[in-house]
Amino acid sequence: MEENPFRETDLSLRNRPESCVVVIFGATGDLTHRKLVPALYNLALDGDLPAGLKVVGFARRDKSDEVFREGLRELNQKVSRQGHDEELWEKFSENIHYHQSNFNEKEGYARLRERLEEMEKNGASPNRLFYIASAPEFFDDILLNLKESGLNESENGWCRAVVEKPFGTDLATAQHLNQVVAETFQEKDTYRIDHYLGKETAQNIMVLRFANALFEVLWNNRFIDQVQITCAEDLGMEGGRGGYYDKAGAMRDMVQNHLLQLLSLIAMEPPADLSADGVRDEKVKVLKCMRPFSSAEEVGERVVRAQYTSGTVNGNEVVGYRREDRVNPGSMTESYVALKIFIDNWRWAGVPFYMRVGKRLPKKGTEISIHLKEAPNVLFNAAAGAEAMPGNVLVIRIQPDEGISLGIRSKRPGPAATLQPVKMDFRYQTSFGKSSPEAYERLLLDAMAGDATLFARKDEVETAWRWVDQVEDAWHKAASPPSMAEYAAGSWGPKEADALLASEGHEWRRL
Ligand code: BG6
Repeated sequence: MEENPFRETDLSLRNRPESCVVVIFGATGDLTHRKLVPALYNLALDGDLPAGLKVVGFARRDKSDEVFREGLRELNQKVSRQGHDEELWEKFSENIHYHQSNFNEKEGYARLRERLEEMEKNGASPNRLFYIASAPEFFDDILLNLKESGLNESENGWCRAVVEKPFGTDLATAQHLNQVVAETFQEKDTYRIDHYLGKETAQNIMVLRFANALFEVLWNNRFIDQVQITCAEDLGMEGGRGGYYDKAGAMRDMVQNHLLQLLSLIAMEPPADLSADGVRDEKVKVLKCMRPFSSAEEVGERVVRAQYTSGTVNGNEVVGYRREDRVNPGSMTESYVALKIFIDNWRWAGVPFYMRVGKRLPKKGTEISIHLKEAPNVLFNAAAGAEAMPGNVLVIRIQPDEGISLGIRSKRPGPAATLQPVKMDFRYQTSFGKSSPEAYERLLLDAMAGDATLFARKDEVETAWRWVDQVEDAWHKAASPPSMAEYAAGSWGPKEADALLASEGHEWRRL
């Protein structure tokens, strides 16, 4: 198979990952088994993992190294992107260890410190990457104990913290967490994960915009009529997820982080340079320009919240949201949200950005579509069907089937001037002949390389929460809160979401 040309360029453009000991808090959890360790394994398979890297899993349950490795192996066999090779796994897993401790047990951190120092004496790297992937209620304990035990300082190396989501549940809790993080790690050593930023196509948004002359000249309110961001999932509350989700809802779970990150990549100005702060300075400006809401009533006009009722998804009968496992039967948590957002700056004044995200929609897919204004209808307006035909739409498919396509109108072959919509299509799979790395592969490498570009900065997280809080407050604290709409599981969402666009003469693009 042909080499992926991305990798070559990619490596030359960024810092090299450095060897370290990765300490994962919450090592017995799903994220470690399904994402983090398989990501490290695939990096090893590609020869990208720095030599001598070690992993220490920190969690409450009592386990030996062997039992821990065995559980990881079972999952890796199932989910590894490039398959599982037993010989490589054996070598790779020799460097994985388990450390049993409660998260609030000081003694456990002291033992960890001794263990890391012992490993260093035996040749392990003095660099430490603390990956905090526990349940969020332990984040404070872990960070404070890292500080008290002195684990956050290594005599001969660096110490960094990767913090998983959710980063707070509102502005106040995010500010609190930022403060606790800042007591233990400097901002430059803090990596707040948003795995959407690690997705290959999300990274390509900046390349598409700023490395091509074609698009950027059109990228403003003179030529763009509207932008849509859709993030659909067919899954519901499988695997006990309802417990977490019912406290969060689509707005906190997906909009505050992943969708607003995609929005800022689409709407940002060209950065001064590609440094982490250069890029994040521009992204945060977009968030600051998002039009606020003046009242709960305005939230009702620009945001639709909804829950699914029973229905059929992929041929299976499924229950409604309120009847899902671990969901409160009287729940007022949204499983779907659609928003009309305005970015009040010179580039985007007047252009609506529509966003929708939901569970139990017909299929999984995330895409961004940029809808251009109509061409002046002076020459081909008489051509059959021209006025009903879609205009130019640039579609960025984040997942699955990653790629970019441009819808144009073309003349159908033959004597008559009949127009037909056609597509110019770029697919990653066809052009690069290789599956894209998983988001966590890229993000782990970047954290080891000290590159925080694809991680959220303190002010980005807080600015996003400040905006989201206005909506949450209108829903949960206002005297007359906007109502909750309904959609059948397996449908594309409530009729209220269609009306949100219809009021501007727009409609949702079918994925
Ligand atoms: C997570 C959310 O951050 O992203 C989940 O908590 C969601 O609810 C998931 O299912 C979607 O991620 P992906 O990469 O599968 O699109």
